[in-house]
Amino acid sequence: MIPMRGCVLQQRQTLADTRAPYTRIDALGDDHIAQLVALYSKEFWCNNRTQPDVERMLKHTDVIVGLLDTKCALAGFCRVLTDFVYKATIYDLSVHPGHRGKGLGAVLMDAVLGNPRLRQVEHFDLNCLPAMFGFYRKWGFTEDTGELGLMRRDKRYAGSYARPR
Ligand SMILES: CC(C)(COP(=O)(O)OP(=O)(O)OC[C@H]1O[C@@H](n2cnc3c(N)ncnc32)[C@H](O)[C@@H]1OP(=O)(O)O)[C@@H](O)C(=O)NCCC(=O)NCCS
Repeated sequence: MIPMRGCVLQQRQTLADTRAPYTRIDALGDDHIAQLVALYSKEFWCNNRTQPDVERMLKHTDVIVGLLDTKCALAGFCRVLTDFVYKATIYDLSVHPGHRGKGLGAVLMDAVLGNPRLRQVEHFDLNCLPAMFGFYRKWGFTEDTGELGLMRRDKRYAGSYARPR
């Protein structure tokens, strides 16, 4: 974990576009992790996440994009799990309710898809509700995945394979 209280200037990068004064970070310190947990708590799909679990999750996340407002508070967040060659999956795109509708969601998507470390990736995937299709289509995402569908194993309910004898 990064021992950061508030802003650490050398880890920040001023956004070189009209959406400044937001600044971008690629790792979160303790204060911003707490703010991320608070952000998660507002969304139905992640409102049970705890700070210790989120700290562990961030430690094992390949690419992190955070946006800070002028008071150094977390205004937006997104993360990616990837092998840096074939596959990358985008998770947790979130903009603080007080900062929505100002282009920050677009800044986060641009930051992920324009990240030089992800330049070689063949497929970017993400999971979202149909209400978000229009947003992600702006970056070339399509819900047309042929016969491919999402499968998931939930550890709370999954049993082991009972092989026929
Ligand atoms: C979805 C979310 C990240 C968008 O962030 P935002 O900063 O408000 O979005 P932006 O201002 O960058 O919007 C960029 C463009 O997408 C459009 N857009 C925003 N939300 C959209 C949606 N749900 N469907 C279609 N288009 C959308 C905007 O109108 C804008 O279009 P324009 O450039 O043509 O004017 C934000 O609403 C959010 O955090 N929602 C709660 C968390 C969530 O549901 N995340 C998605 C997980 S899959």
